[in-house]
Amino acid sequence: MQNDDIVLSDVHLDENLSRIQENSNDDQCESENYVTRFKFKSSDRRCSVTNNDSVTNNDSVTVDGDGDLVLPRQDEDFNVILIKHSLSTKLDDVGRQVWPASLMLSDFILSNKDIFKCKVVIELGAGVGLCSIVVGMFCEKIICTDCLDSALDLSQANFILNTGLLAKAENNHAVLKLDWNKNLNDLVIFSQDITDAFFETIIHIININKKDQVDVFISLEKSAPKNVYVNVPVNRLNFTIEDKDIACPAYDHLTIWIQELCTLNCKYAPSHIFSCRKIDNIYQHFCYNRSDYLELWILEARRITS
Ligand SMILES: C[S@@+](CC[C@H](N)C(=O)[O-])C[C@H]1O[C@@H](n2cnc3c(N)ncnc32)[C@H](O)[C@@H]1O
Repeated sequence: MQNDDIVLSDVHLDENLSRIQENSNDDQCESENYVTRFKFKSSDRRCSVTNNDSVTNNDSVTVDGDGDLVLPRQDEDFNVILIKHSLSTKLDDVGRQVWPASLMLSDFILSNKDIFKCKVVIELGAGVGLCSIVVGMFCEKIICTDCLDSALDLSQANFILNTGLLAKAENNHAVLKLDWNKNLNDLVIFSQDITDAFFETIIHIININKKDQVDVFISLEKSAPKNVYVNVPVNRLNFTIEDKDIACPAYDHLTIWIQELCTLNCKYAPSHIFSCRKIDNIYQHFCYNRSDYLELWILEARRITS
């Protein structure tokens, strides 16, 4: 895959989602922006997502007489998040799209609001900030980070679009540039190096944190169903010469990192004990095609007290 190749997230293929194309060219990026209306159930009643029983979405993204967006409103059954994003992008710009893993992590957050109450949360590789906004509905403060300037601009715009949903309208969020590997000149995706940089960033955050426990949620997608190119930085199924078979070396590399962290006396964070597990059976609040390749992991780091 070359950096110039165009990629498209599964999420944007969903015909039930309503979106409008933005007229104005308000940033320097080549991709055109759209605003999509993501509906979600605030209760734990599962959304129907099968073709025969698809969620009818007659709501459209609307603009008022002045051409301004009509902001999210709460109705009886659904809440709505408006997300400004690009559709297809070059590989370097995938952070400008919405990816299924962020919807599954958002589902988890909505079912586990109490975990996030009174917490300061940092999202790594946040893209256009969907998860950050969802957690911003419940947490004390959300720090939304990415290395891509144009994605950060979209995140910032999305926080403004969804101000009404946030737990506190002011000082509840920050959008910041954070590159897991500042030494990389170009954004390299799907290499094992990026997995190393991702975990090194997590370990750094854990080590400098003064809290007794840090919980890390890792949401990822392992492959590309329906031949649509879908990805997160740390995993992808590939045919590899070494394995002479379909393999996902980056995913394997991720599991090695997790195993390493969970060994006793882990050399990377000697003051902490780690445990890790996969989280299954997550209620689906958002309407999207949740593939079997989506996974959510929790990595818990507890400070050793003498
Ligand atoms: C597939 S996108 C996922 C975006 C968002 N989390 C979602 O699921 O919609 C991967 C994200 O990781 C970010 N990323 C890649 N390499 C990074 C790095 N070295 N440091 C920080 N963010 C990085 C990209 O800019 C992009 O926003």
